[in-house]
Amino acid sequence: DSAAEMPMAAAWTAPLLSQTGDTVVDLRESIRAKLTFALGRTPESARPRDWFVATAMALRERVVAACMASEKAVPNKRVYYLSLEFLIGRLMSDAMNNLGLTDTTRAALRELGVDLDAVQDAEPDAALGNGGLGRLAACFMDSMASIGIPAIGYGIRYDHGLFRQSFEDGWQREAPETWLAEGNPWEFVRPDATYAIGFGGTVTLSSPGEGVIRRHWQPAETVRAVAHDIPVVGWRGRHVNRLRLWKAEAGEPVDLGRFNDGDHVGAVAARMRAEAISRVLYPSDSSADGQELRLRQEYFFTSASLQDLIARHVMERGDVRSLPDHAAIQLNDTHPAIAVPELMRILMEDHDLSWEDAWHVTTHTLNYTNHTLLPEALETWPVELMERLLPRHMQIIYLINWMHLEEQAKHGRQDAAHQDAAYLASISLIDEAHGRRVRMGHLAFHGARRVNGVSALHTDLMRSTVFAPLHALDPDKIVNKTNGITFRRWLHNANPGLTRLAVETVGAGVLDDPELLRGLEAHAEDPAFVARYAAVRRQRKEALAKVVAERTGIDIDPDALFDIQVKRIHEYKRQLLNVVETVALYQAIKAEPHRDWTPRVKIFAGKAAPSYVRAKLIIKLACDVAKAVNDDPEVAGRLKVVFLPNYSVSLAETIIPGADLSEQISTAGMEASGTGNMKFALNGALTVGTLDGANIEIRDHVGADNIFIFGLDAAGVQAREAEPGYAAKAIQASPRLAAALDMIASGRFSPEEPGRFRPLTDDLRQRDQYLLTADFDDYWRVQRSIDAAWRDPRGWWAKAIRNTARMAWFSSDRSMREYADEIWRVRLG
Ligand code: GLC
Repeated sequence: DSAAEMPMAAAWTAPLLSQTGDTVVDLRESIRAKLTFALGRTPESARPRDWFVATAMALRERVVAACMASEKAVPNKRVYYLSLEFLIGRLMSDAMNNLGLTDTTRAALRELGVDLDAVQDAEPDAALGNGGLGRLAACFMDSMASIGIPAIGYGIRYDHGLFRQSFEDGWQREAPETWLAEGNPWEFVRPDATYAIGFGGTVTLSSPGEGVIRRHWQPAETVRAVAHDIPVVGWRGRHVNRLRLWKAEAGEPVDLGRFNDGDHVGAVAARMRAEAISRVLYPSDSSADGQELRLRQEYFFTSASLQDLIARHVMERGDVRSLPDHAAIQLNDTHPAIAVPELMRILMEDHDLSWEDAWHVTTHTLNYTNHTLLPEALETWPVELMERLLPRHMQIIYLINWMHLEEQAKHGRQDAAHQDAAYLASISLIDEAHGRRVRMGHLAFHGARRVNGVSALHTDLMRSTVFAPLHALDPDKIVNKTNGITFRRWLHNANPGLTRLAVETVGAGVLDDPELLRGLEAHAEDPAFVARYAAVRRQRKEALAKVVAERTGIDIDPDALFDIQVKRIHEYKRQLLNVVETVALYQAIKAEPHRDWTPRVKIFAGKAAPSYVRAKLIIKLACDVAKAVNDDPEVAGRLKVVFLPNYSVSLAETIIPGADLSEQISTAGMEASGTGNMKFALNGALTVGTLDGANIEIRDHVGADNIFIFGLDAAGVQAREAEPGYAAKAIQASPRLAAALDMIASGRFSPEEPGRFRPLTDDLRQRDQYLLTADFDDYWRVQRSIDAAWRDPRGWWAKAIRNTARMAWFSSDRSMREYADEIWRVRLG
């Protein structure tokens, strides 16, 4: 049919062809010139990677033109988004689509004998993040540029992003990722924006006048932060922002004395130590790590960013005191929480502000987003380490804390409860119970004007659990800002077929206003529309099946239900629940092979932190179960299991549009929001999920009939946790669960090492911290109701279409408007 023949993005970008005024010939000649003069290649000798670089450079020129236009005027207020992670993935499709140049580029390359898809595939993913937190930052950058919020994103230009994952006999192996190996055509190096970042040393006192005492920090070591800018072009090229990533360099590249003495390695030791700061992204996700280098990274990028934005402010406005009127700083999680004492230090030491004035500026400029309440993920740093690495900051933190605790004593907090040592310990910025550590969450909270959670449930839990005592002191400080995703990446670019169908059905306005997706609802039961919607899905499932075959050698049938769980591997996300249910299903099919089973393909993808032993064992179990199931002729045609290696943003763009079912099955209360859940639902996959994070709001929007909810809610989880021995009871009450666990424990999936998975099954039988056993039976029940729903295609497609039609609210443009109004108080440009 016509859908299969048309170039993927042809019809719907047509109304956008005039964004830059370029013709096919213009772009073709531009690409040809870049290939020849910037890369020194002939078309005959050019590899796909060379074509990618040439095309990117040609597009970058057009972005720069738009950039110059949007930088002409000084905006009244800028947003500074500080994030240790920006999981931007590939950038070419953003640039092309937002400038309306996709078709022009495709045609220009075709005239040069090159296929755009191959060129796009040659772009390495910029994997400068671990998961949801980093991807959220990337979506927010796209949305800010698209709705016209003047903003700069600040982060680190890691030489090596998130590790490459491969499997060796089902075990995860990690290898360094090398996205910069052949340079980055999107970036501009800005040596003029270089700042000195100090570490260690001492604090000295001086007395410039009667009774005045000043403190000065003399760092022992200084590293240079060099700016690298990536332009971020918004929708229709109207507005361009910047992502400014810092690279660490040594003051002196080589110690010439040592070198001349023959110590060639020692001569570059200082340089290596400095450059280590921006060498690798820490592959830790939702877990704190106590590495000194991590703290160096955090301070490095925070200090460089604050120095940069203050310099800009002083240049534009003269007086640093007006910073809160013209700048809103968002701390993405606690990684940049050191901004609180660093901003204080800069204001007092470099700009002569008093403590009170500096505190006013700080607490009216900073805001903090919390992304998790998992205790092991709340960052704390040993006081001893802080004193050694950042002695001046530690002094400032002590003073902030002293004033904070004093205030509680002063202001009517005389009642017993609030004088209680336990109360003061709960609000203190220093945790005295675990060997004296600075609580970065408390520090960020106290130094911020607004603090936000990322879904309604998560924000409520912030108020009632971890931040409850601080919340009571300032009840207006915590606000909710439910996450969102950029539809330009996750619908328009990832699913052009569905986008085209939406445009043809409700009009091209839907590209600017996702609320128009609502119009699809009227067609949820219209056979002609359903056929087209299903054809788009079919095409994307075939594309996914092809990728699965290429990367794993496993053939999967696009007629089967594609049941997909892709995300970081973590116990609270409960991939193990999914695997155990898979084993139970395997047993059930074998017990009754002639029943009318709904054919399913279970697809997993995701990385485990290299030191997270249990998560890696869960991956191994999934791979071993996959092998046994896929090799068993008795379940052929009913059940297949796939673990796709090396999950990434661009792989997600292929996987998500091909999903029928989206697994969002975390223990209630533990997934702050989730954003993958939104991407799947927008693309019309039905969700099977717990009442956790943004799943709750997704249910509210798509309607309870169009989502499959199961399991305990957050209150139920809390109650169950208090019941001793709940796991043993639950297993006893569920023969199906008991049989699945027995099969895993027996070594059936690991004959060469029968006890391999005992750590997993023993833990479920004894502790089961994530309440897998409590939710298992209900999960099984809901999965069978999904089987039944699948056997009614009309009903299924109506639900799928209603999901797509009702997800508009989850656009990150909406999230960014809310931040702009209620946190940043910034006008849209
Ligand atoms: C973290 C949380 C996840 C959330 C994301 C963005 O990754 O674990 O639930 O969606 O941050 O806020």
